[in-house]
Amino acid sequence: MNVIKAKDYEELGRKAANVIAAQIIMKPNCVLGLATGSSPISTYKELIARYELGDLDFSGVSTVNLDEYKGLTKDNDQSYYYFMYNNLFKHVNIDLARTNIPDGTEPDSEKECARYNKVIADIGGIDLQLLGLGHNGHIGFNEPDEAFATLTHCVDLQPSTIEANKRFFASADDVPKQAYTMGIQTIMQAKKVLMVVSGADKAPIMKEVLYGPVTPKVPASILQMHPDVTIVADEAALSLCDL
Ligand code: F6R
Repeated sequence: MNVIKAKDYEELGRKAANVIAAQIIMKPNCVLGLATGSSPISTYKELIARYELGDLDFSGVSTVNLDEYKGLTKDNDQSYYYFMYNNLFKHVNIDLARTNIPDGTEPDSEKECARYNKVIADIGGIDLQLLGLGHNGHIGFNEPDEAFATLTHCVDLQPSTIEANKRFFASADDVPKQAYTMGIQTIMQAKKVLMVVSGADKAPIMKEVLYGPVTPKVPASILQMHPDVTIVADEAALSLCDL
């Protein structure tokens, strides 16, 4: 795995944006797999800045997001659609018809997962998948488990994930208990993976992901098996790693 160390969160955003910008410039009709959460926000800000400078063109880009809370509508300010629209899509010249996010309002999990798998297959797979890293090693909402889940599925969120996300809701009780997420196989089939990790609180899991055994108990550890992974992490997140 190629690890790029950034001084802080802002520099992390610039360095991660370099990788994504290179992808868009080299293949203007690329498919980007996108993530939500706090980790990629500085990266999205930097991509927007480069678009505003005239250095990036999103008109041919398609996107597939990793996940969405089950039960939230697009206009709910905690939905991942709302996040993507407000943190990236509305600021750049992307065609919204080419953006894809699991439909949190579809109550039939089997139907929605099959639809989303077909979306990803029809689009021709993912050129570059952007990931954050959960404190328990989750990627997307692929939580620690006995086995790696493969394709899009509906998950029950773990208490630690609900705890981590409750800061965005009125209370822990308001955090949705389920989510649709892309599976590990789909993530592993992306041609390139870019993971952004920030903060001292992520240092222990960062160390496990880089140096620990590959195990479904630390879902992101599977990235050790991917042929083209770049991790952009700040000094705090890498503080327990010998780099
Ligand atoms: C979000 C996602 C999650 C987050 C992870 C880290 O689409 O898939 O796996 O990347 O929970 O979240 P932050 O970046 O908020 O620490």
